[in-house]
Amino acid sequence: MKGRILSGMRPTGEMHLGHLVGALSNWAQMQDEYECFYCIVDWHALMSEYKDSKPIAGYVRSNLADWIACGIDPEKSVIFVQSHVHEHLELFLVLSCVADLPRVERVPTFREQVEALKEKDVYTYAFLGYPVLQAADILVYKADTVPVGDDQLPHLELARELVRRFHSFTKSSVFPEPQGKLTEVPRLLGLDRRKMSKSYGNYIALSDPPDTIRKKVATMITDEQRIKRTDPGRPDICNVCAYHGVFNEANRERVEEECRTAARGCVDCKKELSEVLIRRLEPIRKRREELLSDASELDRILRAGEEKARAVASRTMREVREVLGL
Ligand code: TRP
Ligand code: SF4
Repeated sequence: MKGRILSGMRPTGEMHLGHLVGALSNWAQMQDEYECFYCIVDWHALMSEYKDSKPIAGYVRSNLADWIACGIDPEKSVIFVQSHVHEHLELFLVLSCVADLPRVERVPTFREQVEALKEKDVYTYAFLGYPVLQAADILVYKADTVPVGDDQLPHLELARELVRRFHSFTKSSVFPEPQGKLTEVPRLLGLDRRKMSKSYGNYIALSDPPDTIRKKVATMITDEQRIKRTDPGRPDICNVCAYHGVFNEANRERVEEECRTAARGCVDCKKELSEVLIRRLEPIRKRREELLSDASELDRILRAGEEKARAVASRTMREVREVLGL
């Protein structure tokens, strides 16, 4: 029996290189080994974007196109939108009943995000429930494996506790205890070496055409102490070199060596990186554009995903109702 995966992303911005190496390539690779459910979590997006929620729908479509272009295959995986499958919210309510309030308030991401997203005002009733809804996303499919970044581990810990509390109150064993799967992902910083983030705009989007890629790479910070072309560089502190390491793995050693010995200049080094990125992103960009130009195809994919997802989720909710006596 294959294990079952559920993972999700919030449709709040465009997909970029960080998503590609941090999540999407792993998601694509796991499709044969696991039964995969990949969810565009628009309710979670609403929790932070409620003041201006109109852009969410556009990101749902463009993220979907990006996922598929990156190899998430709707024939292999169930790809769907959270709000299309109402069972998520039903289980969210049930889990909210067994969720001890002080325990939920102690989830570290809550306070961190309230602080980090000050201008979004996420000090709300719903946002406190963010990890409880996330637990419902996972449990409604009885997923046992959840590929996530390490920042999400506290949410999985809470999900397991909710499972144990639900089971102990209902004397049942409806759910598996989901485990986080930390895949080794290269840490890619943004173009300006800050964390890659939508609000900084310091990323290369999967939709960026070649010229935009060249321009963005040209702005990347290198070894600031390397002033003259003849100065030896320090590849280990250079962000351009880190990108070579991720996207130009085969040439990494050559790049480092030529940098240290001043055999390569930063301008050429960036040109090489741009071309590598363009080669990697071109097929993705072409495919996403094809998909985005065919609205009915995207709709069809989402409807098919919704149906497959609901078939599983509604079965779980029947069991849940039964053990609750509702
Ligand atoms: N909280 C996740 C994030 O910010 C997104 C998410 C929502 C998720 N529901 C999920 C991830 C369920 C894994 C499983 O990245
Ligand atoms: Fe960075 Fe390349 Fe310049 Fe070295 S040559 S400092 S690796 S951009």
